[in-house]
Parts: sequence; C-alpha cells; structure tokens
Amino acid sequence: MEKRVTLKIDKITEEALNIKTFTFKHALGAEPGQFIMLTDFEGGEKPFSISDCTKEEFFITVKRIGEFTARLFQKCVGDFVSIRGAYGSSFFISKNKVLLVGGGYAVPTFYFFAKVLLEAGADVTLINGARTKDEHVFADRFRELDIKVINVTDDGSFGEKGTAVDIAQKIMSQDKFDFLYASGPEMMMKALQDVIGDLNYEFLFERYMKCAIGICGNCTMDPLGLRLCVEGPVLPKEKIELLTEFGKYHRDASGKRITF
Ligand SMILES: Cc1cc2nc3c(=O)[nH]c(=O)nc-3n(C[C@H](O)[C@H](O)[C@H](O)COP(=O)(O)OP(=O)(O)OC[C@H]3O[C@@H](n4cnc5c(N)ncnc54)[C@H](O)[C@@H]3O)c2cc1C
Ligand code: FES
Repeated sequence: MEKRVTLKIDKITEEALNIKTFTFKHALGAEPGQFIMLTDFEGGEKPFSISDCTKEEFFITVKRIGEFTARLFQKCVGDFVSIRGAYGSSFFISKNKVLLVGGGYAVPTFYFFAKVLLEAGADVTLINGARTKDEHVFADRFRELDIKVINVTDDGSFGEKGTAVDIAQKIMSQDKFDFLYASGPEMMMKALQDVIGDLNYEFLFERYMKCAIGICGNCTMDPLGLRLCVEGPVLPKEKIELLTEFGKYHRDASGKRITF
C-alpha cells in the first residue's frame, strides 16, 4: 500500500459553481489518469483524480456533491488533510493525433494528461464540455497549453452549443485521429462509444471505492470482475467492449446495483 501522508492545503482556487481546486506541495509522482484517496479525519475517505502533478506539487479538482465534499469546501489554506496513493492505471501516452473528450468535473484530469501528451510530441484536440457556463471548468488553464480546445455547453451559454458527444461526432467526421480518450459522466462515454467507429480509445471510469487497493471488491465491473481501483480507472477499448454493466448500472456503498 502506498504510504499515507498528511498534507497542508497550499492553495484553493474557485473554478466554477461548486467546483474548487486544492493544491498540495508534495512530490506525488503520479501518472495521468490516476487518483488519490483523501480523508479530512472527520469520517470517510474518497477518491479524487489528479488534475496536475509536477515534481513539487499536485492538485485535485472537486465538485461539491454530498456530505464529504461539502466539508472539504469549508477547508481553508493551511488546513490539513491526509492522502494515500496515487492509485490505479494511467492513460496510454500516444505520440500521434489525439482527441480528448471530457465532461464536467472529470475534465481537469485532462489538464495533467494534455501536458504529458505535449511533452511526448502528440497533436492534441480537447472537447471541454459542461451543462452550462457556470459548471464549465479549466477554460483559462487549457488556453495556456499548445492544444486545440473546443469549449462546449449543452445550453450554449459558453462555447459551442451541444453535448460533448455531438461535437466529437462532428469533429471526427471532419478530421482523422489516431486515438480518443474520454473522461466524464458514464452516459456521455456510452454515447461516445456508439459513434466512435474503429478508432482506438481509453475511457476513465468511476465506481464506488472503499479500499482502493483491490481488497474489498466494491468497485468491480461485470462480467470480468475488473477492480476499477487496480485494473482501472482507465480502461482500454478491448476491456470496455466486454463490460456488460457499462452505461447500465453501478453500485452504492453496500454493493447494491443502481441503474443509471
Ligand atoms: C476514480 C475516481 C476519481 C474521481 N475523481 C473525482 C474528481 O476528480 N473530482 C470530484 O469531484 N469527484 C471525483 N470522484 C467522485 C468523488 O469521489 C465523489 O463525488 C465523492 O466521493 C462524493 O462524496 P460526498 O460525500 O460529497 O457525496 P455523497 O453524497 O456521499 O455521494 C454522491 C455520489 O458520489 C459518488 N461517491 C460517493 N462516495 C464515493 C466513493 N467512495 N467512491 C466513488 N464514488 C463515490 C457516488 O456516485 C454517490 O452517488 C471520483 C471518483 C472515482 C471513483
Ligand atoms: S475499492 Fe476495494 S477493490 Fe476497489
């Protein structure tokens, strides 16, 4: 198990409505697509993707949803939390022409990944989607990278109007890509899979995680029994095509199936 470390929050940035980035000065040594488990010592431990990681610091970007994230949102610079990780699989690093399709709070992990892809020499196009302008994140940060960005909102309040999948379908009909990566709501990725054709891809999945080290079995995906905390959260096309629960159901803390 990766060593647990207690860290001071170094910086907090308001990104959008109910979305904040927390920066920590710590050499995490993570790969893009991986996640950490974080606790505030007040009950529970939750997974969060790494949205940037350098030699000196890393950050996570959190959407306030329920009790745990609401508590995190009350933290100030200088407060302490404890983390373990980084855990899980990471994205394949292509050196070719790639399309990243992201939605909502799952987009920031592509900031870290886009930087690594650029270092590898890839030609990167990103579709950065959200439901509305208020929920759209990281437009300024992505603008500073040498990548092509298409901002999209469902209601047209920022960037192009439509879903990230609508725009991905349009772009793929106009241009040829070597690889596609997606990170976002599962139904977005399911819809994307239906229009992707022969293109090779990887998707970043989320399932309810407890141990994050492959012991409890809460994050397994049918029918392969893939433990998303170990074999995922990034899965390749050949495994995703075998998943019978993709886009159909996930499990809650007790393991009970919840339909999407
Ligand atoms: C690999 C991975 C990466 C993630 N990355 C991010 C991220 O970068 N930013 C972000 O805001 N959120 C991320 N999440 C989701 C985040 O863990 C949940 O939003 C958070 O745990 C909600 O906790 P809560 O108490 O505030 O809400 P709750 O009311 O407890 O839960 C709201 C919803 O959050 C999800 N959730 C709750 N607990 C867990 C858990 N232990 N494991 C997985 N999902 C859970 C469930 O879908 C649940 O219905 C990620 C989840 C996974 C599995
Ligand atoms: S969270 Fe326990 S096996 Fe994955």
